[in-house]
Amino acid sequence: MKFFVDTADTAEIRDLAETGLLDGVTTNPSLVHKAGRDFLEVVKEIAAIVPGPVSAEVVALDHDGMMREAEILRKIADNVTIKVPLTIDGLKTCRQLTGDGTMVNVTLCFTANQALLAAKAGATFISPFVGRHDDIGFDGMQIISEIRQIYDNYDFATQILVASVRHPVHVLQSALIGADVMTAPPAVIRQLFKHPLTDRGIEGFLADWAKTGQKIG
Ligand code: G3P
Repeated sequence: MKFFVDTADTAEIRDLAETGLLDGVTTNPSLVHKAGRDFLEVVKEIAAIVPGPVSAEVVALDHDGMMREAEILRKIADNVTIKVPLTIDGLKTCRQLTGDGTMVNVTLCFTANQALLAAKAGATFISPFVGRHDDIGFDGMQIISEIRQIYDNYDFATQILVASVRHPVHVLQSALIGADVMTAPPAVIRQLFKHPLTDRGIEGFLADWAKTGQKIG
């Protein structure tokens, strides 16, 4: 499973990229607002840090407007992936952009049927939002299982990009279901490394090592 980070904070992206575990980045208008930086400038900087797909979202709601914005965004770098909402105009735009060889991430997906439409429109990635589903009392991961089954039934190449990931259990479940990608905030990615027994084990080994009075090298 590929790991994308869901942020427009370039310091965080740089830091996580150094682990060698980062396969891409996703942003959205809310994350750009949080970063407080010029959108085009920040996308350019991120695309230079991470060679994998970097999602940049259009804000127009009509097909022509989306195409105009996508033209600007895709010129920034080859790894810029255009993010469009799951609407009729969004999927029209998706079809046209992927036809030109541009990667497209269809976002704000909340049902397996919507994911089926995105795959038929040739989406590179579909982004079902699991956390927002959980927030209103539904099981977001159930939709990931359904999409996996549908995509496998028909051999769709669209990659399932689990979004709105809120905690490590979402990551675990995504991997068990066989999602292609998950995107998580930096804090959740950092949580994946942590276990109290790992920390306690290191402490114990170092304490015993100190008692040996030895050094390596
Ligand atoms: O980038 C889209 C998605 O990951 C948003 O997550 O936490 O705002 O629901 P969240």
